[in-house]
Order: sequence, then structure tokens, then C-alpha cells
Amino acid sequence: MRLVFLGPPGAGKGTQAKIICEKWSIPQISTGDMLRAAKKEGKLDPQLVEAMGKGAHVPDEVVIRLIDERTKGADCAKGFLLDGFPRTVPQASALDTMLSGRKQPLTKALALEIADELSIERAVLRRTDRRTGQAYHLKYNPPPPDADLEHRADDQEDVVRNRICVYRAMTAEVLPYYEKSERLRRVDGVGDVAEVTKRVLSALKTPEGA
Ligand code: AP5
Repeated sequence: MRLVFLGPPGAGKGTQAKIICEKWSIPQISTGDMLRAAKKEGKLDPQLVEAMGKGAHVPDEVVIRLIDERTKGADCAKGFLLDGFPRTVPQASALDTMLSGRKQPLTKALALEIADELSIERAVLRRTDRRTGQAYHLKYNPPPPDADLEHRADDQEDVVRNRICVYRAMTAEVLPYYEKSERLRRVDGVGDVAEVTKRVLSALKTPEGA
């Protein structure tokens, strides 16, 4: 399985990706997590830190290089799940080129769909435990009292609204790209986590994806 998960902020890409990757023993590769880790280590160009803080994309060539290198890892031999990549048609096309060069084509692209107001509620009330990296939600999945909580810089409401605009303007175009080649599966992301997981599994386990 070589998969990509698409969807607006807070759609549940990270939450569902973690479950699927544990179930199928494949690595979860999130460009957002990779960029945040580089920022924490002081290795991210200040201009890119600023772009992320405003909810803008980082340049295609930066994330394409990250994904090209990461997916060559030995742990990716049996498959992988890309969470939040690609976000533009040039990224999707570069991914196809790199994977076809390795004779390991993408299996499927799954788009989690939710309305903008839910996107905002999910992102703004998200908190992450600094020690474990576990994501919580103040309303839907409250953290334990001893958690050391962090609020993502780009999870402020005005920034989330901008991330949604960027998604609609740029990433939404990636859906028809995959639709044309019959690799896209759309999944309703509304409902509790277990309910959405059932839909994701059913969308991925069609004959051509199993
Ligand atoms: P990234 O980290 O990828 O952010 P995102 O795509 O906006 O996605 P989120 O992490 O906000 O949401 P999610 O869908 O993973 O939701 P989650 O499962 O956590 O990217 C951040 C930034 O990095 C970008 O803005 C850009 O600057 C840069 N970047 C990254 N990739 C790039 C690329 N390819 N090109 C260019 N720039 C790039 O869930 C959210 C919350 O909801 C959690 O609290 C969770 O507990 C809760 N929740 C999830 N599912 C449910 C449910 N079913 N019911 C109730 N609560 C739920």
C-alpha cells in the first residue's frame, strides 16, 4: 500500500493515518510533522517558519525533496502513507514521477471531507502532549490532567481560516488530478473517530486497493 491522505485542516488525516499505519505496519509520513520537527531543531529557514505561521504553503521543491528522501528509507519498502502531501498538482505529479521511476506506483489517494466550521473547531481546540506527541481535542478527546499541552502556532482561528482558503485554492485541485486516474476515494470525515476509520478501511479495501 502506497497511500496519500488529503483533506482540509482538522479533517482527521493525522488521526486516521496513525490508526491505519499501526494496523498495516507501514510508516506514517507527515510533511507538517517533518517541517515542525525541523523548526524545533532550528533547521528550518526563517522564511518558511513565517510562511507556516501564517498558514501558507512552503515551496513545492522543499517538500518534494523531503518526500523523495524519506520514501527511499528501508522502512518504506512495504508501503507508506503520506499525510498532508501532495498539496499542489506539481507535488502530485512529482510524486508520480518519483514512484514510477522506482516501479512502485501510488495505490490510492483518500480525501477526508468535512465542512469549514468543523475544520475550524477541530483545529482550534486541538492540543498536543509535548512529551508523547499524542494529539488531543479539548471537546472530543480531552487530555489527561498531567499532559504537558502545546497549542500549535498555526491553530489560531484566523490562521486556520487562512489554511482553509489555501486548501480550497490549491489542494482542492489535487482531487481531480487523482480522480482522472481513478485513484481517488472520497470519505465523509464527520462522525466519531471509530466511525470514520470504518469508512476509511472500506474505501481502501476495494479489489484494486487490497
Ligand atoms: P499539516 O500539519 O499537514 O496541517 P493540516 O494539513 O492543516 O492538517 P492538520 O494537522 O491541521 O489536520 P489533520 O487533518 O491531520 O487533523 P487531525 O487528525 O490532527 O501542515 C501544516 C503546515 O505545514 C501547512 O499549513 C504548510 O504551511 C506546511 N505544509 C505541510 N505539508 C505541506 C506541503 N505538502 N506543501 C506545502 N506546505 C506544507 O485532527 C485535528 C483535531 O481533531 C485533533 O484534535 C483530533 O483529536 C480531532 N479529531 C480528528 N478526527 C476526529 C473525529 N472524527 N471526531 C472528533 N475529533 C476528531
